[in-house]
Amino acid sequence: MEQFSTLFIFSYLFLLLITAGEAASRWSTKPTKIFVFGDSYADTGNVRIASSWKQPYGITFPGKPYGRFSDGRVYTDYFAKFLGVRSPIPYRAWMKYLGGKKVYVSGINFAYGGSGVFDTYNNMIVPNMTTQIDFFERLVKESHVITKTDLQSSVVHVSLAGNDYAMYGVYTNGTFQNTTDHSKIFIVDLYRSFTNVINHKGAHDNDQAGDDLKFETPLTPCCKGIRNELECGDVDANGTKMYTVCSDPKSSFFWDMVHPTNAGWRAVYANLKPSLQQFFHF
Ligand SMILES: *[C@@H]1O[C@H](CO)[C@@H](O)[C@H](O)[C@H]1NC(C)=O
Ligand SMILES: *[C@@H]1O[C@H](CO)[C@@H](O)[C@H](O)[C@H]1NC(C)=O
Ligand SMILES: *[C@@H]1O[C@H](CO)[C@@H](O)[C@H](O)[C@H]1NC(C)=O
Ligand SMILES: *[C@@H]1O[C@H](CO)[C@@H](O)[C@H](O)[C@H]1NC(C)=O
Repeated sequence: MEQFSTLFIFSYLFLLLITAGEAASRWSTKPTKIFVFGDSYADTGNVRIASSWKQPYGITFPGKPYGRFSDGRVYTDYFAKFLGVRSPIPYRAWMKYLGGKKVYVSGINFAYGGSGVFDTYNNMIVPNMTTQIDFFERLVKESHVITKTDLQSSVVHVSLAGNDYAMYGVYTNGTFQNTTDHSKIFIVDLYRSFTNVINHKGAHDNDQAGDDLKFETPLTPCCKGIRNELECGDVDANGTKMYTVCSDPKSSFFWDMVHPTNAGWRAVYANLKPSLQQFFHF
């Protein structure tokens, strides 16, 4: 965990909800769509060849590996729940199974695990933020699958890891400002929520009265390799598991070395909710 802590201290996570103008204002109408950009904290299935599609990922939700870097839900899912919309369809699945047609109902998730500093898969080429934004822009400017009306009722949600913070300028000065005329920028410091949850060994979740989330040893991941060089999800040549999974993932904040559990994200979400509620009034 030493390695992780060091990385973590120097890494700040931000969520940006992009807007042009009225930075101080609040949302009073309920967004109906979310367009998501980011890394494995936000990805819900775009990266096809990754641990997120291997056992034991997804055991809590949806019950099998389905592309999320967790045993269950990730931040995007909780954020969608907050807005009362379905978690947006991953871009890859949307292109592949729906042919990129205008049938998305709750937005599109362009986030790719591997695009951020916490993603350590070697040699994995995944679309970075710039490329993700290009995908989005093409849908707005070329195919017009995403219309101005869509954008007006949308939230753009960018999940950034610390070293990508320099990218901030790309969003604030760059293309987003033009494409998302009437949407808004909002920054949430995810890092602070992580530290709050870890320091308090849990969080109180108002959604489920009496159901406090507790993590006795918040820095110990639930799923880990049986040796240092091995990771959650690794198997040997014969398919034998080279990892262990804790008996109760709900009691762990971290699922693997860098990604929170379903319960971990729920705690982060519970911690962030007051800020979200300040911003979104509907
Ligand atoms: C993002 O990826 C594209 C395509 O691979 C590359 O041309 C570009 O330099 C990358 N941008 C950054 C900021 O890494
Ligand atoms: C935006 O552009 C202006 C002028 O080019 C520059 O001074 C400013 O630092 C940029 N802002 C960000 C956040 O990059
Ligand atoms: C944004 O729009 C303005 C006016 O239409 C244009 O001059 C500018 O180049 C655009 N900026 C970007 C980054 O596309
Ligand atoms: C796989 O199984 C074979 C036959 O039981 C055995 O000889 C071999 O050592 C095993 N390989 C690993 C990596 O455990």
